[in-house]
Amino acid sequence: MNRSDFQKSVSGLATDSASHRFNSDLRIKHTFSEPQKSKAMTSRIPGFYALTLNDRIALVKEFSGLSDQEAQWLLDGGKISNDLSDTFIENAISSFSLPIGIATNFLINGKELLVPMVVEESSVLAAASHAAKMIRMGGGFFTQSTDPVMTGQIQLFIPDDHMNQVDQILRSNQSRIIDYANMGQERLLARGGGAKSCDWHFIPELKAVVIHLYINTGDAMGANIINSMCERVSGIMPELFPCDIGLRILTNLNDHRLAIAECQIPADAFTTPAMNGDLLVDRIEKAYLFAYYDKYRATTNNKGVMNGIDSVLIATGNDWRAVEAGAHAYASRDGNYRPMAVWKKQADGSLSGRLELPMAVGTVGGVTKLHPTAQIALKILGYPGAQKLAEIVVAAGLAQNLAALRALAAEGIQKGHMSLHQKNLDLLERAAKP
Ligand code: MEV
Repeated sequence: MNRSDFQKSVSGLATDSASHRFNSDLRIKHTFSEPQKSKAMTSRIPGFYALTLNDRIALVKEFSGLSDQEAQWLLDGGKISNDLSDTFIENAISSFSLPIGIATNFLINGKELLVPMVVEESSVLAAASHAAKMIRMGGGFFTQSTDPVMTGQIQLFIPDDHMNQVDQILRSNQSRIIDYANMGQERLLARGGGAKSCDWHFIPELKAVVIHLYINTGDAMGANIINSMCERVSGIMPELFPCDIGLRILTNLNDHRLAIAECQIPADAFTTPAMNGDLLVDRIEKAYLFAYYDKYRATTNNKGVMNGIDSVLIATGNDWRAVEAGAHAYASRDGNYRPMAVWKKQADGSLSGRLELPMAVGTVGGVTKLHPTAQIALKILGYPGAQKLAEIVVAAGLAQNLAALRALAAEGIQKGHMSLHQKNLDLLERAAKP
């Protein structure tokens, strides 16, 4: 599949009938390339968990080319100053630290990656690393993404006697709307970004039309660009037809900005002394179907997906609430709340997985640029642009879901989780002692 076919296929998915949705057929051409072999550059690091924290930092430093200063920042606990807190938010009183860890074993489109994750929950890093190890037995993750096209909404209230003119007037003014949206955006336009197109729909109950502006925001998440454009464009609307201006804001359901990760894992990868891999593949597929037909299970399943996604988003200074909102809405796109990732046993007994989600992330601007640990996280990832970062994020979500389903379908979640949680429990017990 070339890029334009892929674009068609993903935009089709965003708008097609329900029958195309939650289709587990793999769509990305899985081209296998030899992973880099040098010891320092492989993310397959057995026993990483058993190293001391200092040794882990040393290894990540070597892998990612961190400077002495960056490694020292991590060694010192990566705490941001109160001055920086004060610039990020209002009414700051201090900062709140969370652990950052490294998920190992990631191989994405043939590239070795160490994936930084920020999370307070034990077992998330271990689960992601374990799943990535199984997934690399099938060649790793294969990922793609659409152009970073975000959607802004402009709501207009129309008097009854003008409602039937609106469609025609908007049709004949589309290029004017786009040109107006792009005025003053020379830098974005020079980078190939900017407003690209628009469409609209009516909400008869509100006597309103809602214009959608589709804006390529490049490597930015884009909220400010979009909101500014929407506010600007709304200003010319009363020149086109009588209207009251309603809300002007981006939507977090960015179904034109999608990222997709796929994998295909041989059944052998699941074999344990206690269970045959073939049986486990069947059970994982059944676990997926449980979530497909049951929204209570889907919610928990998707919480597991977001364990992986949010952790990478937080590590890289991205707005995880925006992605959360979009991901859950996208999981409901056929009218029922569904599992975000799709798992299917293939004819050869292997297990295929696919995760497709709206992924509005940025690698420039805001916290991403200003938070020293977010900058280090991006360096560890090899400074991906926004599209590549979006793909890494969905790969982490897919891995997390596989790890949870595998454990649930085999020994149960508590065995692994509780052994890793034990350190927390010991600490709590010590804290409770007088
Ligand atoms: C726990 O943080 C996540 C899981 O509940 C996900 C799932 O049940 O699929 C283990």
